[in-house]
Parts: sequence; C-alpha cells; structure tokens
Amino acid sequence: MTEELNNKQDIYFPSYLGNNNNLISLLHRTSQVLCNWFSNAEDFGPLPFDDNFKCIMPGENGNSAEDLFSEIESLLNNSFNPVHPGSLAHLDPPPLIFSILGDLIAAGLNNNLLAYELSPSLTLLEDSLCRWFSKKIGFGDSSGGIAASGGTLSNLNALIAARHNAGLGSDPNSALLVSEEAHSSFIKCTRIMGLDEKNLIRIKTDFKGCMDINHLKKTIDKCSLENKKIFAIVATLGTTIRGAIDPLKDISEICKERNIWLHIDGSIGGIFGLSSIPIEGLNNINQADSITINPQKIIGITKTSSLLLVSKISTLKNTFSTGLPYISSNENIINRGEIGIQGSRPAEVIKLWLGLRFLGLTGIEEILKSAINRKEFFMDNINKNKFELYSGPLHIVSFLPKGLTPKETDSWTKTKVNELKNKNYMLSRPKFKDKYFLRVVMGNYNTKQFHIEELLKFLDAYQ
Ligand SMILES: Cc1ncc(COP(=O)(O)O)c(C=O)c1O
Repeated sequence: MTEELNNKQDIYFPSYLGNNNNLISLLHRTSQVLCNWFSNAEDFGPLPFDDNFKCIMPGENGNSAEDLFSEIESLLNNSFNPVHPGSLAHLDPPPLIFSILGDLIAAGLNNNLLAYELSPSLTLLEDSLCRWFSKKIGFGDSSGGIAASGGTLSNLNALIAARHNAGLGSDPNSALLVSEEAHSSFIKCTRIMGLDEKNLIRIKTDFKGCMDINHLKKTIDKCSLENKKIFAIVATLGTTIRGAIDPLKDISEICKERNIWLHIDGSIGGIFGLSSIPIEGLNNINQADSITINPQKIIGITKTSSLLLVSKISTLKNTFSTGLPYISSNENIINRGEIGIQGSRPAEVIKLWLGLRFLGLTGIEEILKSAINRKEFFMDNINKNKFELYSGPLHIVSFLPKGLTPKETDSWTKTKVNELKNKNYMLSRPKFKDKYFLRVVMGNYNTKQFHIEELLKFLDAYQ
C-alpha cells in the first residue's frame, strides 16, 4: 500500500495501523460542541429556529473540518433542545448520558443486527436483553423479542405476526380492533398490511379514555355476524393524548375466551412494568401475546429505542423467517433479521443496555417516579375551577379552559403555544374529538417544581 493511500485512510476511516489521533481530536471537539449546546440551552430556549437557517449540500470537493464544525454548530443552534427544562411538548426527554455513549459505540462498531456473523456479541446482547425484559414483565421461558426503530415498527411487527398466527394472510375480511384513542400509527400499519380503514375497527372509550368493554364485546359479536375475522385486539397502555390505560384484565380475558391475539401498545407505559410504582391498571401485562415498549419515550434512551416482546418467540420466527442465502448461519442462533421486518439494523441495543445498566432498576424507578411526581404537582396546582383536565395514571395531561367551543379551542391553543414559546416553554397542541388542547408531557428530568409553577402562572392557571 502506498504512503498516499495510507494517509487517505487515516483521514477517511479509522486506521487499523495508526494511533487514530485525528479521530480522537475530532471526537474531543465534537464532545465539547455538544456539551456546550447542552450547557447553553437556557440561552436558546427549547425550540430555537432562525428562518435564515440554510442546509448546505455536498460540493465537488470535500469540506474542511472547520467548515463542518461551523455547520454542526448551526445545526445544533437550530434544533429542538430536549435538555431545556421548558421542553414539555412531546415524549422526547433529555438523552441519558450513557445512551449518548452507546450511540457513539454503535456507530464506531458499525455492526449489523441482520445476522449473527455480522454482529456476534450484539446479537447475543439483543437476544439476552429482550429475554430479560420479557421475564421482568412476567412472560415465561418461551418468550423473547426484537428491537425495531420506533413504536410504529414494533406495533407493525406484532400485527403482522398476529395475522400470520391467525392464518389469515391477506384475507380482506381480517379486522383489527383498537380503541378510538389508540395511536394514529395503527392506520399506517393497516395500510402497510394491505388492509383499508374499514378493517381497523375503533372501540369507544369511556370518560377516562379507556376502552369500553361493553362496546368491545358488542363489536366482536358484530364482527362474527359480518364474517369479519379479528386477528388482534390492541390495548393501549398509555394513550398519547392523556396517558390512559385500557382495562388489560378484561381485555385479556376476552382475548383468551375468543382465542384472539392480544397486543399491548405499551410504547408509553410499558416501561413502568420494570418498576414497582403502583400505577392503576398496570397489571396483567403478561397476559398479552405481544407488547411494545419504547424506552426512548420516558427514561431517555436515545432515539430510536423500541422493543417488541412476545410471549412465544416462535411466533416471530414463523412469521418472518425466509432464510438468508448470502449469510453463513449458526444452527443454534437466530439471525435477528429473520424475526422482524427490518433487515440491516444498527446496534440500537447498546444504548438501551448501557442506559439500563447505568441506571439499574432503582434509577429507572427514580426517573419514572419523578415524571409522575411532576405530573401530580401540575395537577395539584392548576386551577380546576377554570380548566378541564384530561389525564390518566401516567405523566401526560391535556387541558383546556372550561366552556370553549371547538372553534375557540383552535385560536386559544394557537395563541397560548406561541406565547409560551416566547417564554421558553414548549407545549403541544393535540386535536382530539374536534377540539384542540394544550398538552404537557412531564418526562423531562430537568423540569423542577418552580418551572411548573412559572408555567401555570404564565397560563394564568395557578391556583
Ligand atoms: C401510544 C403510542 N404508540 C405508538 C407510537 C408511535 O411511536 P414512534 O413514533 O416511536 O413510531 C406513539 C408515539 O408517540 C405512541 O404515543
């Protein structure tokens, strides 16, 4: 190899010969830039964005490190900042520090979770972590799971497995039952599965946002009269708008009686299954056939981090396995690309594993408890004579001044979101049953009681 090629290698890729000093100094500098961005969050607010922000595309020649660092800084300074204590809009908490390291290590390893031969240690790590999670939530010895890039994909993995398990293939009469407050991604899932919206049947919710069991039973009976074949019922463990939990015990009994696959969308609330926090309704999760858990949404595992756990790992194998003719396989070890939709996949498991190892069960519980405490503080201090509140047992609250018409909710929420943004609080504005609401998600560990008091005062809602 010529000297010139060696030098190029040092510049473009990590060197297998040299000391990688160039990379080390770039990593130092990047860490510094990133940490400055965290430390200066107060100066920029949760959602800074300059209308003059420009995205510069690659040119004929490569750019210098100086150019690139200046562009990195501009990118950071125009990004949503989850570390800011006023970031309360969505299920996007600050990143856990060991997860940041996990992402870096995963990028450096550049292993591929498609196959054991491309990621031997990580294949075992993902398999072991899924089994550990499965045991923790009460699944038996045949359980396991697969990671996927986000809750939507985990839910999709589950639904495809459920339909395959029911032997329905692409039967146009197949039906999926979800509550009317289930996440919008189920619409996408049914489309991807070649079904249309009439195959996605919505079950009414009660005043707490939980699936109405009587309506569920009637709907199941109606489906059998109409020859619709239900391949799964989805119970939501933590709805997006108000953190409600569907009645898991009742739903699981119905599923057992009628031999229907129960999938729990625990994208938000599933992680509470690792804690002993007494959450109303969070029991019987081990009665499910599958459950989605999204550690990215509360405890700060960096995105994306989502697991699908199944009570029988064989259901995923039977559904997705095709053989991988270009891969040398080990008889006793499942290639992870054969038990889910995704083929090539980064080792997202590292940041999950490091994050969980760093926290331990005590740390996980502390983070979850703090989210619930912040939500309770908000609920205790908001003026209930003035505001309607929508909140289940989790850390999400949607609210509105009493007595507004649907049209007035539109303008009130728009005005408030903008006013609050100017005061460095970022809330979301979901639409739900024809009205707009303001929503706070209390998953931000940096938000303290005085921030919540200040927020309520800005809203003229402090009691
Ligand atoms: C209850 C629920 N399920 C599924 C999803 C989809 O998750 P993702 O955006 O990670 O695909 C969300 C997103 O907020 C959610 O709240």
